Amino acid sequence: MTKQNLQSNRKFKRYTVTSALPYANGPIHIGHLAGVYVPADIYVRYLRLKGKDVLFICGSDEHGVPITIKARNEKVNPQKIVDIYHKMNKKSFEDFGISFDIYSRTSMDLHHKTASDIFRKLYDKGKLVEQENEQYYDEENKQFLADRYIIGTCPVCSYEKAYGDQCESCGSSLSPNELKNPRSMLSGNKPVMKKTKHWYIPLNEYEPMFRQWILKENKNKWKPNVYGQCKSWIESGLKPRAVTRDLDWGVKVPIENTEGKVLYVWFDAPIGYISATRQWAELNNTDWEPYWKDKETKLVHFIGKDNIVFHCIIFPAVLYAEGTYILPDNVPANEFLNLENDKISTSRNWAVWLHKYLEEFPAKQDVLKYVLCAAAPETKDNDFTWKDFQARNNNELLAIFGNFVNRTLVLTQKFYDGIVPEFCKPDKAEKQTIKEMTGFAERIGKSIENYRFREALNELMNLARLGNKYLTDAQPWKIHKTDPKRAENILNCCLQICAALSVLSEPFLPFTAQKLKKMLNISPMKWDSAKKEALLPRGHKLNKPQLLFEKIEDKMVEEQLKKLHIARQENIEKEKPNIEPKKPNVKFNDFTKLDIRTATILKAEKISKSKKLLKIQVDTGWDIKTIAAGIAEYYSPEEITGKKIVVLINLEPRNIRGIVSDGMLLMSKDNDGKPVFVTTEKKCENGSQIT
Ligand code: 2FM
Ligand code: ZN
Repeated sequence: MTKQNLQSNRKFKRYTVTSALPYANGPIHIGHLAGVYVPADIYVRYLRLKGKDVLFICGSDEHGVPITIKARNEKVNPQKIVDIYHKMNKKSFEDFGISFDIYSRTSMDLHHKTASDIFRKLYDKGKLVEQENEQYYDEENKQFLADRYIIGTCPVCSYEKAYGDQCESCGSSLSPNELKNPRSMLSGNKPVMKKTKHWYIPLNEYEPMFRQWILKENKNKWKPNVYGQCKSWIESGLKPRAVTRDLDWGVKVPIENTEGKVLYVWFDAPIGYISATRQWAELNNTDWEPYWKDKETKLVHFIGKDNIVFHCIIFPAVLYAEGTYILPDNVPANEFLNLENDKISTSRNWAVWLHKYLEEFPAKQDVLKYVLCAAAPETKDNDFTWKDFQARNNNELLAIFGNFVNRTLVLTQKFYDGIVPEFCKPDKAEKQTIKEMTGFAERIGKSIENYRFREALNELMNLARLGNKYLTDAQPWKIHKTDPKRAENILNCCLQICAALSVLSEPFLPFTAQKLKKMLNISPMKWDSAKKEALLPRGHKLNKPQLLFEKIEDKMVEEQLKKLHIARQENIEKEKPNIEPKKPNVKFNDFTKLDIRTATILKAEKISKSKKLLKIQVDTGWDIKTIAAGIAEYYSPEEITGKKIVVLINLEPRNIRGIVSDGMLLMSKDNDGKPVFVTTEKKCENGSQIT
């Protein structure tokens, strides 16, 4: 097996490139794009231009607990949720120009079959360990509490809403039993423990293989962030990992008598890449297996950092145990993108959503792709700001790339009627410029092959800078009359750079590249053609130029920022529990008129003819008072006798159902609306004032 993966300097026959399957329970945002889909698309478009056989896979991840929770909250079937978001995300990716060969989905039958066949094969080969143990169970809902159905306090950072599988505050990967104060997401109740049976992949048995494959063979090949996470997992001791769950949404466990059990979403989701390949092969009447089983295939997974362990340890363990699959050559995971200095969050509605962006900027896909690549979180978390978006558009795309191309094409129209002029007896500067131009394809390509997309993009812009500077320095408009041969050479040279840009920008700016090719009147070309000195022959007729980029005004940016903040505010309002509106302010002197004290309930009794009222005697430390309180439906007299409470003792006496009530118990309500007593943190003497 290690031989099959000693692939670093090898030539490959084909490439299988996967990008994380997004959950179909929400739209795509810029964090997803910058982390996964933009780099993956650049990589794939480059490989295609190099003439490689490459298959680019994605699709919806349609199982897992968050989807069932959303469906439950919205009182619909999970299928309805995934249908909506699958369609929406597929379209957003298409409109944005991410060039998947197939956008599949894990709820399709072919996927269920692929995932259950792999599970069954592992089971039959004795590669899974069956184990019965106790897991959290919600008695009210009669359901085991898998993964996100259980919340509690994180043992690492004390965040109170950590999930059973992960703490979203500190990122720790957890198991439900590690949570402190566990509660059911369904009922809010404290769960009980109940026996259940599951199947585990014994990762511990593969530790030697992982030590060899990751810690030795991939040490200097994988990105340090990816390698580091794997190392820490391996060195803290790999443990068996459950690959089934007690749930009714997912791929059914293909073993007899396993009603109510499905495959763990992280078992079936990466298999979704394989199912998608099978679907693509069926549609294209070809064979899927070489893309997953031939050792001459390079398998690359593009993911975000939260997916590292699943793609580097768990999925490879499954593939390795199955025995006929290749392992990934690389897993270029990115860190996270923040937005305006704050973490992107779906639940707080702090995101730039792709479908919304496309509605507002229908022809600016490339600008977003450019900004997300230029600011990609390749080695550390990074920030997207609308100001930066504007600056990169105006000062880079427009001022350098667009300006150079536009000046070149407009001058060619003006001086030569749009016909490529002659290039003859070049001078030193011209020779030098053309020579420099021919070196970019190789350099940009190397950066892309090494997953350094920011570096690659910067190199592309250097080519535009080269052209821009050359044109500005050479000033053909000044010598066009006095030295026409020189002016022809200069513009020919600039046109060759424009042509090289139209080829080399394609992975990064596909819509722009196409527009530019159209203006240059050339058809698609391979990557290496940009290594040539003359892509455009003398006498070639160009089309009319158009502007490639438009200026983004301050107003546009301000609007986006405003929208972002409004969306967050609306979300806060929506999420607010049913809290009474705040009452008008009172003067401090008015507050001090209230005499609030700690007290003890001496006696409580029911009142005849009232279901709601209890007659309560309290010792206020000052006197013994009788108070009528509407809590009889919630508390029995015995239950509250002796209780330490807080009482307003100078409320004017009122007659309530024949009882003179001389004060008021201070109470609040819990989540279910039950009245609860206000008490002091520590015991106080009766009559202690509350101030
Ligand atoms: O983190 C996520 O959004 C997952 N749905 C990614 C799954 S990737 C693959 F395994 F399918
Ligand atoms: Zn935590």
